[in-house]
Amino acid sequence: GWSMENVLDEEIKVIKSTVGTEDHVICALSGGVDSTVAATLVHKAIGGRLHCIFVDNGLLRFKERERVMETFEKDLHLPVTCVDATEQFLSKLKGVVDPETKRKIIGKEFICIFDAFAHDLEKKLGKRPTYLVQGTLYPDVIESCPPPGSGRTHSHTIKSHHNVGGLPKDMKLKLIEPLKLLFKDEVRELGRILDVPQGFLKRHPFPGPGLAVRVLGDVTQGNALDILRQVDEIFIQSIKDAGLYDTIWQAFAVFLPVRSVGVQGDQRTHSHVVALRAVTSQDGMTADWYYFEHKFLDDVSRKICNSVRGVNRIVQDITSKPPSTIEWE
Ligand code: XMP
Repeated sequence: GWSMENVLDEEIKVIKSTVGTEDHVICALSGGVDSTVAATLVHKAIGGRLHCIFVDNGLLRFKERERVMETFEKDLHLPVTCVDATEQFLSKLKGVVDPETKRKIIGKEFICIFDAFAHDLEKKLGKRPTYLVQGTLYPDVIESCPPPGSGRTHSHTIKSHHNVGGLPKDMKLKLIEPLKLLFKDEVRELGRILDVPQGFLKRHPFPGPGLAVRVLGDVTQGNALDILRQVDEIFIQSIKDAGLYDTIWQAFAVFLPVRSVGVQGDQRTHSHVVALRAVTSQDGMTADWYYFEHKFLDDVSRKICNSVRGVNRIVQDITSKPPSTIEWE
């Protein structure tokens, strides 16, 4: 009968026969569920001929690089090259305020890095990698286009920087999409069978452009990224402590490019305002803002202002999607 175990066996057979016994495969890991499960599956099929790359673009959350690399190495034994491209990304983003321009710059840098990775591998292996693994899901396959004129990238085009279509033509990589007939909950189930840690499988979605779309305006302004990481970590940890993490689709903080007057200690301050956003959703296409208990919000707000230097005001985003989007940019 049909079971996830059978799907797994079947997928492994297909990957083995597709790739054969000589060819090499590359995969870009984002730290998300889909690319991780896809890579784990391919790794099981072809072992050391899979070469993964994880890019730290300087736009990741608090300790994210350390956390995901530990999962890749210790729990999943995936062969991953970690590239610290913080300077490369941030220098290109300096002074850029337009959200779509930010996304384009980030997508382009990702491609440059993958291209360099493929070339390095070619030198090392004496042959070029033939295949690229992508964590494309069934909904990405059946969905057509982003809402016309929305100017935004949605799930299928979102991953364009990981798409072969977006890669330089001379790389000529063939695609392996082992999840393309599965829905998200089935991917989680597959991940469970593959021993991907449960905590990892339940992680909230995180946009490819990372914190760049959560620092409104210039990403490099002051210590915005650092402040945002600290606030976000307190917010997420509080949500986990309250047992709410799995109920919420996505929760995060947004750094606003405004200052407000406050009084901290006996000092007048003129510091940053940070917004908290939490939503429930089925698929991210529509979403409802989440009603926290007053006590929870009060505790989080105090904790943030008491421990994050440079923040003196917390506001909560109380709009649903529509009319808002989940992210602010
Ligand atoms: P919005 O903000 O459009 O987001 O309501 C819907 C879902 O998509 C994520 N998102 C992105 N993911 N690249 C991504 O990989 C992007 O450019 C991007 N923009 C939004 C968002 O986090 C939410 O889960």
